[in-house]
Amino acid sequence: MPLNMKAVIPAAGLGTRFLPATKAMPKEMLPVVDKPAIQYVVEEAVQAGIDDILIIIGRNKNALANHFDSVPELESTLNAKGDTARLRRVLEASDLADIHFVRQGEPKGLGHAVLRARTHVGEASFAVLLGDDLIDERDELLTRMIAEHERTGSAIVALMEVDPAHIHMYGAAAIEATDDPDLVRVTGLVEKPSADVAPSNLAIIGRYVLPASVFEILERTGPGKGGEIQLTDALQEMAADPDGPGVSGVVFRGRRYDTGDRLDYIKAIVQLASDRDDLGPDLRPWLKDFAAGL
Ligand code: UTP
Repeated sequence: MPLNMKAVIPAAGLGTRFLPATKAMPKEMLPVVDKPAIQYVVEEAVQAGIDDILIIIGRNKNALANHFDSVPELESTLNAKGDTARLRRVLEASDLADIHFVRQGEPKGLGHAVLRARTHVGEASFAVLLGDDLIDERDELLTRMIAEHERTGSAIVALMEVDPAHIHMYGAAAIEATDDPDLVRVTGLVEKPSADVAPSNLAIIGRYVLPASVFEILERTGPGKGGEIQLTDALQEMAADPDGPGVSGVVFRGRRYDTGDRLDYIKAIVQLASDRDDLGPDLRPWLKDFAAGL
């Protein structure tokens, strides 16, 4: 059933960890097996019932916009060849949802990218899904976050336990437990803290369900860590405001792939391909032999 909620997918970062692959192509377009990372993210939003999606694009906008557009000459060639399976896969990308694009003039940070969605989103609550962060479709997250937001009205972040040695790469949450082991109250948030000052090893991962009031906060949020306008800083303000809607965290214990990181990207491809019926039966024994030879 379609929800009355829009999704925003920021995909305007510079992707410096993946240079030079990302020199002329956004990292969200890197293929994960045979689909660009962002298509998995769009499919996840659609699966959760969202059919209006705004993608925030940067300097390499064309590849993203073209991917979700129809390509008549490719479609008619596949059609003429009778290659219906491939035709179906090509059409899937352009038929998925109502997809819109807006430019982020300069990559001034995730908070700045999200603020670019204000006009499109309006006054309703919305979901944010980072375009390089994949949640395995077999593990539920966004649906749970939306349900929690509908129940309480608070901003919902997705949290995942990480090795304390890696917390400096994420936003970290100070939390209070609730009766539900998968749900916490967030009392504070810090962007990329060093391990010795991190409030916990619960890291914010790339899914959010936010009330529109976050836009007012983002309007006045100045540059934070790394000189960027941080969404984490705006959410920290929300968490600290006793009169506001507050922030809660859904703790995710499933499979997640950060495709903006080279090692995680390789792991994502291997894991997803080895689980697939068309590739797994050949890949799995090869992987075993390969690993045995190391
Ligand atoms: P990242 O920090 O992972 O993206 O941002 P990045 O800056 O492109 O990566 P590196 O570190 O240089 O390799 C998280 C998400 O926010 C988006 C990115 O595209 C990514 O989906 N983002 C980030 C924007 O849309 N705009 C920005 O100004 C910054």
